[in-house]
Amino acid sequence: MSAPAAVVLSGKGGTAKTLWQMTMAGEASRAGLHTLLVDVDPERNLSNRFGVPQHSTGLGSVFEDAGVTAGEGDAEKGAKRVAGEIVSTPWDGVDLLPAGASLTGISQVSIPDTWLLRDILTAAKLYDQYDLVLFDTGGRTGSLVTLAMYAADVSYAPIAPTTDAVRKALEARTRVERIQRAHPLRWAGVVLSGFDLRSGIEEAIHGKVYEEFGDQVRAEVPRRTAVNEAFQLLDRLGDRRDVASAGLARIFRAFLERDLMQRGDHGDGVLR
Ligand SMILES: Nc1ncnc2c1ncn2[C@@H]1O[C@H](COP(=O)(O)OP(=O)(O)OP(=O)(O)O)[C@@H](O)[C@H]1O
Ligand SMILES: [Mg+2]
Repeated sequence: MSAPAAVVLSGKGGTAKTLWQMTMAGEASRAGLHTLLVDVDPERNLSNRFGVPQHSTGLGSVFEDAGVTAGEGDAEKGAKRVAGEIVSTPWDGVDLLPAGASLTGISQVSIPDTWLLRDILTAAKLYDQYDLVLFDTGGRTGSLVTLAMYAADVSYAPIAPTTDAVRKALEARTRVERIQRAHPLRWAGVVLSGFDLRSGIEEAIHGKVYEEFGDQVRAEVPRRTAVNEAFQLLDRLGDRRDVASAGLARIFRAFLERDLMQRGDHGDGVLR
């Protein structure tokens, strides 16, 4: 069976995209799912987190071999390269396709074939080899995010208490609706991350999110040191020994299984 593939959307700038994809990969690992993380962000934050050296090759080289810098798009050639670019991570069952140094150049090229990334991963049989594929995007407009959207089956947008996070999530939803004319990319909704409701400003943003998105708010993870620490230290959140971490990890796991993979019955993940 083909692995479900999820893309995280919303604009550039600390809306917790990388944190969510990475934390869910940790939970997927703990659940025994063979998972491929794909770093589609030219800034390479996800690759950096996993300690991939700055000058390493990766997805950028896959696109180069597919000929995109020469205005071509040969999925078979890209597919030949891709397996050799995938690296393992310290987390059981989780592999990473790093962005690679040349992805910055690729991000400036317009790639007319919106299916290219999906075709490359399909030709390399990666959707068959994994149970789950997670794409991390950089959120800037341009071809790369579009390619990741066509390579995915389901999308969602995290909202952190930063300026414009609500607007960015609304834009992400609009972008998904547009793509749905050509590709059945499911919109799983939004997740809230890092809010501290004792702050008046954050409480106001929180209220606005519910006004705009209503029951499309699918999970809520409050601001907790454990979440940020696990992210910084490369721990799987659910491996941490404190009770709080276990509860927080369950929120990520429930969103992953219920909303992204559409498995089982988990309630709606919102702590009320
Ligand atoms: N629930 C939470 N608890 C604590 N900190 C959080 C929580 N959610 C988000 N954060 C903070 O928000 C930051 C989000 O950073 P992250 O790199 O995931 O954003 P991003 O959307 O990927 O940014 P970029 O657009 O640059 O790629 C984290 O470093 C973390 O400090
Ligand atoms: Mg990021």
